[in-house]
Amino acid sequence: MTRGPAREDAELDPSLELDSSPFRPDLLEGRVALVTGGGTGIGRGISLWLAAHGADLVLASRNRDHLEPAAQEIRALGRRALVRPMDVRDPDRVATVVREAAHEMEGLHIVVNNAAGNFLTRAEELSPNGWRAVVEIVLDGTFHVCRSAFEPLRDSGGGAVVNITTTYVHTGAAFMAHSGAAKAGVLNLTRSLAAEWGRHGIRVNAVAPGLVAGTEGARRLVESVGRLAEFEAGVPLGRLAAPADVARAVLFLASPAGAHISGAHLVVDGGESVGGKFGGHEDA
Ligand code: HXC
Ligand code: NAP
Repeated sequence: MTRGPAREDAELDPSLELDSSPFRPDLLEGRVALVTGGGTGIGRGISLWLAAHGADLVLASRNRDHLEPAAQEIRALGRRALVRPMDVRDPDRVATVVREAAHEMEGLHIVVNNAAGNFLTRAEELSPNGWRAVVEIVLDGTFHVCRSAFEPLRDSGGGAVVNITTTYVHTGAAFMAHSGAAKAGVLNLTRSLAAEWGRHGIRVNAVAPGLVAGTEGARRLVESVGRLAEFEAGVPLGRLAAPADVARAVLFLASPAGAHISGAHLVVDGGESVGGKFGGHEDA
């Protein structure tokens, strides 16, 4: 990938595979993107991929310390990066952050709802407050951000929303009843907004990662059930997803490459959800 002048000295995290992007480096030139949970894990990967292809970034989550290092990495790529602490469960704070960020960045073109909460628990042991915490972050939070972003997206000439779901939205998953139900709601919300907002030039899509290596979600799963190799063996393409895999899909949908795609749910799991456990590898 060709590098812009400000990026010559930028040290790229090799695990993000930014040097082998199949996309033009100026694909998102002049675009402003908001990524919730953009400082850690998959969200950091998405933020850096968008920035490496020309976008300026607004990173928003609860903890500033999670956001600042990613913002520094984005600035090293020669792009602007705003850091805005916010809890997606607080609609007033979300509205203020989105409005002020769009004003400061002179537009808003891309929104990635990546922030989430999840933990593994037996449904019968999940307290009402535990249920509420996850559903409010995942489903309510995605709605609050979308609602607040509508006007700036419309007024910036249209735009793209990409919501991060998961492969178990269709199947459900043991010990993740709260997360599965909330993410299924996010998928339905994605489709409703795609139907409503298309006439304003706003496309709304979702990306469903399978288990993503090296993330908090994967760490928690290993901590609870401790069988990462078994998951990997069930992936027809032979490995777990990486943040870069998810980021490429988000970039595709958010960019002009996805110009006539809205209401789609793009699965990024190496074929795991269709190949089934132990479907693809003889040595599995
Ligand atoms: C049971 C739990 C719990 C756990 C919290 N709770 N953790 N119950 N098992 N491990 C309960 C608490 O007891 C409390 O209920 C309620 O949930 C709220 O807890 P708080 O700590 O007060 O909530 P809060 O500070 O708002 O934190 C939200 C959170 C936390 C979701 C609980 O885990 C968080 O901040 N998560 C963000 C990061 C994250 O989850 N990353 C992974 C996302 S991706 P009571 O009744 O006691 O008041 C992912 C995908 C995996 O996981 C996909 C795998 C295929
Ligand atoms: P992660 O690193 O824990 O990311 C979650 C992010 O959300 C954090 O940056 C966190 O930042 C932010 N966040 C959490 N609660 C928030 C709140 N109330 N308000 C604002 N921000 C909040 O987890 P990840 O594994 O990268 O997951 C990223 C996304 O991918 C999630 O949507 C997840 O469901 C999805 N996903 C992950 C996997 C996987 O295997 N990891 C699989 C399928 C789907 P703060 O702590 O600073 O708030």
